[in-house]
Amino acid sequence: MAAQSSVSLEKIVALCKRRGFVYQSAEIYSGLNGVYDFGPLGAQLRKNIKDAWLNHMTQWAEDVVVMDGSILGSAAVWKASGHLDNFSDPMVDCLSCKKRYRADELELQKPCPSCGNRQWTDVRQFQLMFETNLGALSDNASKAYLRPETAQAIFINIKNVMTSSRVKIPFGIAQIGKAFRNEITPKQFLFRLREFEQMEMEFFCKGEDAASFFDLWIERRQHFYRQIGLSMDRIRMRQHAADELAHYSQACVDVEYEFPFGWKELEGIANRGNFDLSQHSGHSGKDLAVFDEATRESFMPHVVECSVGVDRLFLTLLFDAYYEDEVDGEIRTVLKLSPRMAPVKAAFLPLVKKLNEPMEKLYLHIKKQGYSVLFDDAGSIGKRYRRYDEIGTPACFTFDFESLEDNAVTVRNRDTLQQERIAIDRVQEYLDAMLKTAE
Ligand code: GAP
Repeated sequence: MAAQSSVSLEKIVALCKRRGFVYQSAEIYSGLNGVYDFGPLGAQLRKNIKDAWLNHMTQWAEDVVVMDGSILGSAAVWKASGHLDNFSDPMVDCLSCKKRYRADELELQKPCPSCGNRQWTDVRQFQLMFETNLGALSDNASKAYLRPETAQAIFINIKNVMTSSRVKIPFGIAQIGKAFRNEITPKQFLFRLREFEQMEMEFFCKGEDAASFFDLWIERRQHFYRQIGLSMDRIRMRQHAADELAHYSQACVDVEYEFPFGWKELEGIANRGNFDLSQHSGHSGKDLAVFDEATRESFMPHVVECSVGVDRLFLTLLFDAYYEDEVDGEIRTVLKLSPRMAPVKAAFLPLVKKLNEPMEKLYLHIKKQGYSVLFDDAGSIGKRYRRYDEIGTPACFTFDFESLEDNAVTVRNRDTLQQERIAIDRVQEYLDAMLKTAE
């Protein structure tokens, strides 16, 4: 059984649709570009990703607390953050076929890749934030923006969090939530979206400690990717050159993954200096400096940020886990997700329908304990195994006629295909051992 990871984006998209991970949003109305809906398995996988991230973020000696900011942000916030002035991409249109491109992704001396003519408009800057108006009036005073990152809600609340939860520098604030960018060319399925979800943690520390916390978080984030089962030979850390740095950043390392379309950013880890808090202090007139009891002096905290998209990590996990191998002369598609990430932990399969009742009893017992499990009696046992391999289910339990005699079931391992017999009252223990986080 020679397993190989041979996957194209098309295969991932087809699997996602077929098995209810991801659907094109508003598909019955011919779709909405750059926006997706998540079906039952997709929603569960997202939940597992977010749980694992939160767990990782909040396990250290330093406090990391969680908050949940608003999606609508006032124009004043985005002015202070620099997004109103800087958050744009260069855009160019083809005058002949009207297709729109990011100018930095094209060679403008060459013809349009779509129609073959060479008639470009001038390059303009395109603001990526979605603008809206609050209330009935559409004047400047009521202008608001859908947040293009979750981070700003953290910065503008630092004082609220510090006074209400007794955390002290150094500490972090973590947040998971939707973000919106009017990307000129959304592409590669979930890789670049117009509506997506971010997991961001802003770690506040003294300026002199920022460089060492930056290094520490780079190390911790690598540990996280190992823990959730990504192949570490497809992960690399790439330091930004000075001319690549975002307007707020002093140093930045991208966690990159080797996608079939090349090495691309999965997560950004940035030393943001004290840019954000200084900006918000200046623009709001509220001093966001922190008083140090030891030195009896105020200082502006520096920030180390870890920021990754739920959707981009979702896509990465699928690429990483997708294998095709040959079992009994047939091609089998299997997602080798780590048990912790797998949307369904185990399937309960009676060998024949006559055995449904005792198997259902065991299934309901396990389900009641809070495990994400499924019962399935449709089709041959081989077909059922394939169905669960394809969605990454690590264990399949089968109840057969012998089970009536020995009170045991067969458990089949998705990756090794090995089967073993275990007592029914040890099924939960088996699942717990399987789910124990790899250290
Ligand atoms: N607060 C910093 C920030 O937002 P970013 O590099 O623009 O930095 C961080 O975004 C992460 O958010 C990216 O590494 C990626 O995982 C995710 N992300 C950004 N734009 C995205 C998009 N259009 N679609 C999906 N994920 C996106």
